[in-house]
Amino acid sequence: MRLLKSHPLLSLVNSYVVDSPQPANISYMWNFGSLLATCLGLQLVTGIILAMHYTPNVDLAFISVEHIMRDVNYGWLLRYMHANGASFFFIFVYLHIGRGLYYGSYRAPRTLTWSIGVIIFILMMATAFLGYVLPYGQMSLWVITNLLSAIPWIGNPLVEFVWGGFSVNNATLNRFFSLHYLLPFVLAALAIMHMMALHTHGSSNPTGVSANSDRLPMHPYFTFKDLVTIFLFFLVFSLFVFYAPNKMGHPDNYIPANPMSTPASIVPEW
Ligand code: HEM
Repeated sequence: MRLLKSHPLLSLVNSYVVDSPQPANISYMWNFGSLLATCLGLQLVTGIILAMHYTPNVDLAFISVEHIMRDVNYGWLLRYMHANGASFFFIFVYLHIGRGLYYGSYRAPRTLTWSIGVIIFILMMATAFLGYVLPYGQMSLWVITNLLSAIPWIGNPLVEFVWGGFSVNNATLNRFFSLHYLLPFVLAALAIMHMMALHTHGSSNPTGVSANSDRLPMHPYFTFKDLVTIFLFFLVFSLFVFYAPNKMGHPDNYIPANPMSTPASIVPEW
């Protein structure tokens, strides 16, 4: 295993996920970071394959999604994993932030880690909003961009700038697809910066005082502890994907977008 310590790149892997000394007393509350990384990876893989069959055009978007669901081999699985994966991503980020608030992880010396986290969270919301427009159902059309119009003074011009017109149109759908493809890679880069910032001082622990006197190597102790919750996540995730794939969605998004008909209620996902 000398190579793991001497190789310029492998030594980085070693210092982050193999020999890295972790506080022995971190609880399962410290497992959400690895779950978030798992979700990001899952969204990237399923999203890239979905994009191979999706068409970002106002006349074709909705039916290209139906094509994915009915004709593409395991297309239904990819789409349901991507849609439900987005929901779990947010559940985990709320819990991850909640842990940070409860245990004061946002304080020095982890302020940079927290600040990058805030940027990640804002970008995650933007990415999810952009993605929700892509199937071009009724909820896609109505729920999203009007939100920006609430900003005083510049709200309306800003919405028209984002739309690229006076209403949601083909240019809007195209740019949303382009940005929805781009931003997750920016998220991945930010997640790496998040880890680099954390690595300078390392994780906090539930007591809030230094854990320097009692540490364990990341591998095998916390790699396997992280796997426990990753497997648990896959179990619960499968229950949703295979038995209740539309539980967290809205039936109105199975009606093609129609600018002439406002839905009875305009609501975001859960
Ligand atoms: C894509 C999203 C994110 C990923 C992949 C991610 C990843 C991680 C990982 C792997 C850790 C170390 C393990 C752990 O403590 O859970 C961590 C720690 C941390 N994260 Fe995140 N994170 C994300 C989003 C956020 C957000 C949105 C915030 C806050 C606004 C945040 C704040 C923190 C803080 C303060 C720590 C240090 C916690 C401590 O040691 O007490 N992270 N993150």
